Amino acid sequence: MNRVLIETEEKRTSEILVGRGVFSAIEEHADFIFTDTNVLALYGEKIAKKFPSAPVWAMPAGEKHKTEETLFRLLEKMKEAELRRGSTLVCVGGGVAGDLGGLAAALYMRGIACVQAPTTLLAQVDSSVGGKTAIDFRGIKNLIGIFSEPKKVYIDGDFLKTLPPREIRCGLGETVKHSALSEKLFTLLWDNRSRLGDLEFLSGLVCENIEIKANVVRRDAREGGERKCLNLGHTTAHAFELVDKKLSHGEYVLIGILYEAEIAKRTLRGADGEYLDRLKELAKIALGGLPDLPSAEEAVRSARFDKKNLSDDKVFLALPFKRGEYAFEELGYGEYLAMLKEIGERLW
Ligand code: NAD
Ligand code: GLY
Repeated sequence: MNRVLIETEEKRTSEILVGRGVFSAIEEHADFIFTDTNVLALYGEKIAKKFPSAPVWAMPAGEKHKTEETLFRLLEKMKEAELRRGSTLVCVGGGVAGDLGGLAAALYMRGIACVQAPTTLLAQVDSSVGGKTAIDFRGIKNLIGIFSEPKKVYIDGDFLKTLPPREIRCGLGETVKHSALSEKLFTLLWDNRSRLGDLEFLSGLVCENIEIKANVVRRDAREGGERKCLNLGHTTAHAFELVDKKLSHGEYVLIGILYEAEIAKRTLRGADGEYLDRLKELAKIALGGLPDLPSAEEAVRSARFDKKNLSDDKVFLALPFKRGEYAFEELGYGEYLAMLKEIGERLW
């Protein structure tokens, strides 16, 4: 079992345990289990065996249910279960259940303990770690949320065995993003690019992903600056995702990386073109084909809502630059639109 500890500048700590079978090693007493319907169907027995007396509630699965209705239904169930300040909520599921459950735990009685047990590759390499919680609101992704670190995160590779290939691709999106922040992870992915669909290989990289994210979160848990690098590729990803919700988050991230590697070549002096082409190649292998996307005009309209933007007339981007290096850049909306159009014509 591997252990990663995050202590933030505000001295909040989160302990992350990674390994096969760590779900059964959860030490905390669970007062309530929150999951989704798919995970309950697959792992209901495993959950009941581990926590025989804890009430369980499953939200309907999927991003379209990451809403205020689901949040308030969960809070209602937590109240019915008479949770108290000292209670612990355990979230078992992907990034949707983890983000929503983390928010409910942070809100209930102004905050109760939350333990995350992520079950998708995306949630294991990214969303369960670092304390971002949220729901989507009025069509905007993650508009309502709070930073609230989970007390513990138990990352059990055994959950990944039932993941459909598309969900593996979603986790790969955030893994490729992390590789743009770490020369070591980039080299590992590039040298093993024929294994990007191989679950054994990818689950062996979970700890590396978490170390990369933890190093950033330790220094900037509240996204005052540096943490924006964890949104590499995400400005363009969210811009498309907001308009059409056909793909999953991780797939949009891969598309965002394809665009933003090209934007980096055009805007950052000294950017390493050969490396950026390799990064694009990784994103292409992971995606497997280019889906239809909304128009650049629609995407730029939605980019105006991006939480990272520093001013009303510019879009903020965290761009890949050289191996293990990124750069922040702001572009006027007109310039961003022109680039999305031009790059979109020769994206694949
Ligand atoms: P998800 O939670 O919707 O899970 C994807 C699908 O897989 C769902 O249908 C789910 O029921 C199913 N599933 C879950 N575990 C399974 C298993 N072991 N076997 C088979 N099926 C399983 O989506 P996701 O990709 O895990 O997470 C995406 C969400 O994460 C987005 O809402 C995104 O905004 C959020 N996110 C948050 C952060 C953060 O830092 N908080 C970071 C990245 C992404
Ligand atoms: N996934 C982006 C972040 O945690 O900051």
